[in-house]
Amino acid sequence: MTNEFNTEQEKFWAGEFGDNYIVRNQGQNLIASNTSIFARVFQNLYTNVDSVIEFGANIGMNMHAIRNLLPQTHLSCIEINATAVDHLRKIPNLTVHHQSILTFHAQQQYDFVFSKGVLIHIDPSELCNVYEHMYNASKRYICMVEYHSPSPIELDYRGHKEKLFKRDFAGEMWEKYPDLLLVDYGFFYGRDPKHGQEDMNWFLFEKRECC
Ligand SMILES: C[S@@+](CC[C@H](N)C(=O)[O-])C[C@H]1O[C@@H](n2cnc3c(N)ncnc32)[C@H](O)[C@@H]1O
Repeated sequence: MTNEFNTEQEKFWAGEFGDNYIVRNQGQNLIASNTSIFARVFQNLYTNVDSVIEFGANIGMNMHAIRNLLPQTHLSCIEINATAVDHLRKIPNLTVHHQSILTFHAQQQYDFVFSKGVLIHIDPSELCNVYEHMYNASKRYICMVEYHSPSPIELDYRGHKEKLFKRDFAGEMWEKYPDLLLVDYGFFYGRDPKHGQEDMNWFLFEKRECC
């Protein structure tokens, strides 16, 4: 993949910060927490999901969780950080795209397309592109598990500026694609011992059959 990125946020994640993130975010507890998250998200979808793609997968902590829940489903992911990609390539039967989600144009469609904790780190001026890439990649479902704020805000991220944004990602996606049906949504509470991650909101959309 090319080393030339359009945004500061891509350089940040492809570089040393991204490498260090891996060390802090791995292990069986995280996979267990993600399994509980996706068990809830997939509650009514099990029979309909044969293929999944994750936008910004890091080392595959969600991929392992989803494999626990949907062992027959074909899993794919996109990841910008080379060290994370080395980890992902060791996971059997996982298709890995070493690329930025800002430039990812899917060559096929997937039943379930999702991001978790990734849109919050994208340059806001590029979000519209990412929504389009997620929408085009989806055959049926689109899911976002992100930090929500009704109005866009920027927060300090481990001492870094312009690297963490909260906003209504799902609402923006819905405004761009009003044909989407909101199937389900909810909140994972950070103080819930079986969650063990930051507070997160999730939104599940379905593409409607065209008339
Ligand atoms: C906070 S981590 C979340 C990882 C994973 N989704 C999870 O839930 O544990 C953000 C991930 O997105 C990746 N990422 C950030 N910007 C990206 C981009 N433009 N294209 C692809 N991956 C990106 C980072 O390298 C990192 O692995």
